[in-house]
Amino acid sequence: MKKHFIDLDYLSKLDLRNILNLAKAIKDKPINFSKSLENKSLGMLFKKPSTRTRVSFDIGMKMMGGNVIELNADSIGFGNRETDSDLVKTLSQYLDCLVIRNDDHKRIKSLAKFNHLPIINGLSNYSHPCQILSDIFTIEENKGSISNLLIVWSGDINNVLISLIQASIIFGFNLNIASPKLILHQNKNLLDKYKSDQIKFFDNPFDAVTKADCVMTDIWVSMGENISTKNTTLFKNFQINDNLMEHAKSNSLFMHCLPAHRNEEVTNSVIDGKNSIVWEQAKNRMFVQQSILIFCIT
Ligand code: CP
Ligand code: NVA
Repeated sequence: MKKHFIDLDYLSKLDLRNILNLAKAIKDKPINFSKSLENKSLGMLFKKPSTRTRVSFDIGMKMMGGNVIELNADSIGFGNRETDSDLVKTLSQYLDCLVIRNDDHKRIKSLAKFNHLPIINGLSNYSHPCQILSDIFTIEENKGSISNLLIVWSGDINNVLISLIQASIIFGFNLNIASPKLILHQNKNLLDKYKSDQIKFFDNPFDAVTKADCVMTDIWVSMGENISTKNTTLFKNFQINDNLMEHAKSNSLFMHCLPAHRNEEVTNSVIDGKNSIVWEQAKNRMFVQQSILIFCIT
């Protein structure tokens, strides 16, 4: 069985901990890993835009001695020249791992099921596991073990949050989720799948952030969503601004996976403020993904 990285809850806590520990070793001494993936090749297929995921996988793989090829879905006729199974079997003749970003989580899962080569979910409509595992790494660098912390999410119910919810259940940290009543209602079935004592829902972000060790958000309309059918005014009170941050612990971190829509979901004063760690957060994507690559490939 190949080692895939599709969702955090496909992996054991021990595997995830090992990935985080190795990421720390890579970050501390990258030179020790400069040959770890020598002669190995990574393919990347992005059906949606990406800056951080694309560049951090590319540079991270090369820093470990590996090769990278970015596949263009149109150029390879993804989905219309051959079956997905034949395509992935062909790719496995040249590649050791494939990162995919698309809008169809089920398809990523089905590509993994063929088991021809390890598949990494580089973001789907459903989840963003590379982001959140890396965010756990960043939080622990700043605050120590995540299991004693309160993480607060204010904003949309989306792919990044689903991975965060899975992480909360696996690592045992408290998670307060603040989102407009209507959005919570629209996502009820999805959220009910992840019922857990440590996850609480709020329709008032001020109640949610009290005692927060870390406040997180993301854009209100994700890639692939129809902006004209989403009422973003609903999220107005869920913006992360100085007033909201004053209700969190004074040393609460601010995190955002980026790209940010400044002065929508977060004000400039917060994202550029002293408690924001968004650049460290972006940087750490690379070390954690290098570790994920080693986990999947070797
Ligand atoms: N956070 C993140 O995944 O960024 P990109 O969409 O730019 O890859
Ligand atoms: N929720 C966002 C995350 C981008 C990294 C999106 O899917 O567009």
